[in-house]
Amino acid sequence: MSNEFPVLSAETIAPGIVRLRLQAPRVARHWRPGQFAIVRPDEDGERIPLTVVETDPDGSIVLVIQAVGATTDRLCAMVAGDALADLAGPLGSPTEVDHFGGVVVVAGGVGAAVALPVARALVEEGNEVTAILGARSADRVILAAETKAAGCRVIVATEDGSLGIQGMVTDALGDLLAREGRVDRVFTAGPIPMMAAVAEATRRHGITTIASLNPIMVDGTGMCGGCRVRISGEMRFACVDGPEFDAHAVDFDTLARRNAAYAAWEADARRGACREVPA
Ligand SMILES: Cc1cc2nc3c(=O)[nH]c(=O)nc-3n(C[C@H](O)[C@H](O)[C@H](O)COP(=O)(O)OP(=O)(O)OC[C@H]3O[C@@H](n4cnc5c(N)ncnc54)[C@H](O)[C@@H]3O)c2cc1C
Ligand code: FES
Repeated sequence: MSNEFPVLSAETIAPGIVRLRLQAPRVARHWRPGQFAIVRPDEDGERIPLTVVETDPDGSIVLVIQAVGATTDRLCAMVAGDALADLAGPLGSPTEVDHFGGVVVVAGGVGAAVALPVARALVEEGNEVTAILGARSADRVILAAETKAAGCRVIVATEDGSLGIQGMVTDALGDLLAREGRVDRVFTAGPIPMMAAVAEATRRHGITTIASLNPIMVDGTGMCGGCRVRISGEMRFACVDGPEFDAHAVDFDTLARRNAAYAAWEADARRGACREVPA
């Protein structure tokens, strides 16, 4: 394995969620909020997309990874001193960051890792940012302190009520939209049904809403077609045209179906039973 992308530190921040700091100077130099990297933990592994959460002038980058399958399991098992076989990036278009006014960032689960750099950049641009962070329970809420330290007002919603308000992020968003005078823009990242529900909630209020989409990706360069998503009836590639799109134009049903297409094969891969790529 190459030593080009050494792991500097690895820390479990919630059950099944790990924060890795890696040495990747070229990505650190060129990255802007909203961009991601395609990583491959070892030479036998597949390539997967992961958001770059932050970078440091020392040439390191931070990834926050939720273990959901074979590749993320491998990444989450890494420790300081290990190294990734490949890391390509930064990829995708950076987030549009401007002075919008009042912005609400809605994130579910590991979506908080996608939302943090965007929220931080929006605050730096002079926006008033409220972040709604949701999870099943208190121990699964991630990056709330970091989001607060970035200058956001943070509202936590847990499904079991063990932290913050009890309910889904969309419940918190609904309350906030009913209460606040003006919300100029909403940004959302997380599970597909959650982003679809956020889009429905803001559509009613006519608020521009940007969703960071998470389709299956392979090459991340617009060549394989794996990440195609339907936006306003047209096919777009999330890796080069996104990953962020107008949430009101996204066909979330097709996105959910495409992401589930390999579920059985992925379950085999996780058990180590399958080493071939499906035709
Ligand atoms: C631009 C982008 C940025 C992302 N950033 C992050 C991040 O910062 N942290 C993080 O933990 N994850 C992130 N993801 C999701 C991550 O890429 C997937 O979880 C990963 O590819 C799963 O690989 P696996 O081999 O471990 O699991 P697999 O065995 O491939 O899949 C396991 C399960 O996860 C589902 N899945 C597969 N790919 C995705 C996907 N892209 N999105 C959602 N579910 C998926 C499968 O349907 C299956 O149910 C991002 C995805 C995209 C497109
Ligand atoms: S990942 Fe291959 S076209 Fe986008």
